[in-house]
Amino acid sequence: MHSNKEMVKMGVLETGGVIQYSKGLEGVIAALSSISAIDGAQGKLIYRGIPIEMLAKYSTYEETAYLLLYGELPTKNALDEFTVLMRELRHIPPKVEMCITELPPNPHPMDILKVAVAHSGLYDPDQYRCCREGVMRKVIRIIAQIPTMIAYYHRARTGQEIVPPNPELGHAANFLYMLHGKEPDEEEARIFDIAMILHAEHGLNASTFAAMVTASTLSDINSAIVSAIGTLKGPLHGGANERVLKMLDEIGTPDRAEEYVLNALKEKRRIMGFGHRVYKTYDPRARILKEYAEYLSKKYNDTKWIEMGEKIEEIMIREVGKKGIFPNVDFYSGIVYQFLGIPRDLFTPVFTMARSVGWAAHVCEYTQNNRIFRPRAYYTGPDYVEYVPIEQRR
Ligand code: CMC
Repeated sequence: MHSNKEMVKMGVLETGGVIQYSKGLEGVIAALSSISAIDGAQGKLIYRGIPIEMLAKYSTYEETAYLLLYGELPTKNALDEFTVLMRELRHIPPKVEMCITELPPNPHPMDILKVAVAHSGLYDPDQYRCCREGVMRKVIRIIAQIPTMIAYYHRARTGQEIVPPNPELGHAANFLYMLHGKEPDEEEARIFDIAMILHAEHGLNASTFAAMVTASTLSDINSAIVSAIGTLKGPLHGGANERVLKMLDEIGTPDRAEEYVLNALKEKRRIMGFGHRVYKTYDPRARILKEYAEYLSKKYNDTKWIEMGEKIEEIMIREVGKKGIFPNVDFYSGIVYQFLGIPRDLFTPVFTMARSVGWAAHVCEYTQNNRIFRPRAYYTGPDYVEYVPIEQRR
């Protein structure tokens, strides 16, 4: 049996190169990219060279989106133009709105998003434009429309009236407005904006890679984003945030955390919101989100969730910190979202809303110097098996 985690030399390729096997592609460099970098040992993350902490402090989601898509911070004029375009493109085609609002209320909203993004692509006026400007419009349209799709579905499934986008509000504040039917206070809009910045990009994570694989066949951008949405949905990736809150529900009170975590570790169950393929220390995004989770807990005088979270963190670091397992971005985000009144099954769609820009940036960057992704599997089956006619099989 081959090792789970090491890179194993398996043989020689037809072209003379060495065949290596790395389960889950761990440690494999699959692309060159100037979009973001993670230092997994130091717990650092930069977007286009700028530390995430600086962006969280000084930037907005729109400015960060521009930075990721175009490679540099915008001038005042460029940001104004980009912001106007993002606001104009928020409206979804009427047939997509009709479809979203008539869908049954029980599917997971991530499945609704897959349908809505695919459907919307059919009405994209830039559908067949392959020039850089056309591709950018398609990309910005998807980023601008995803919040509208999520909010419309939620309003419809809860029997509330649809609230159209408000062109006076920024990306994050407008989403909360469409979701709740009232403008958020400035502080909450800003905290949500920061959460969006923190989730906007993260290198070749599974969903970004899925988008790039699809785009590398020269398929369209909507197909690439749909691949990414399906990939982000999984509990080992973006679906972890929703499950963290489910776990906190199961635990119930901080004094029960120790028993719960120790049992889970004994039974080799994963604690959601912990561990990462690249970070072997505290995820810098989790550090910032934890501060806001603490702040909101105090503001609303409801400290049960953060107390449970901090207790779990303490036990996990004590028990498995030496293995490099620490809180990741999904651990404290759910507590923040809960205080912002976002329903739990929208946590991963909200992640999608932020990450769509990272997906788009990587797709644009990779396809400019494209080569189709086509890895190999190392065959472990028998060399030759006789074909047995069906009547002779037992
Ligand atoms: N709880 C308990 N043990 C864990 C956890 C966890 N959350 N994560 C990893 N481990 C252990 C694992 O059992 C293994 O132990 P051992 O070497 O003794 O067998 C060791 O750590 C390495 O695990 P791995 O599965 O090889 O690590 P990976 O790099 O393949 O997986 C991961 C990374 C994020 C999928 C994993 O840490 C995990 O399942 N975490 C829980 C789900 C989660 O929070 N996902 C969100 C990830 S961050 C944001 C995002 O991508 O959306």
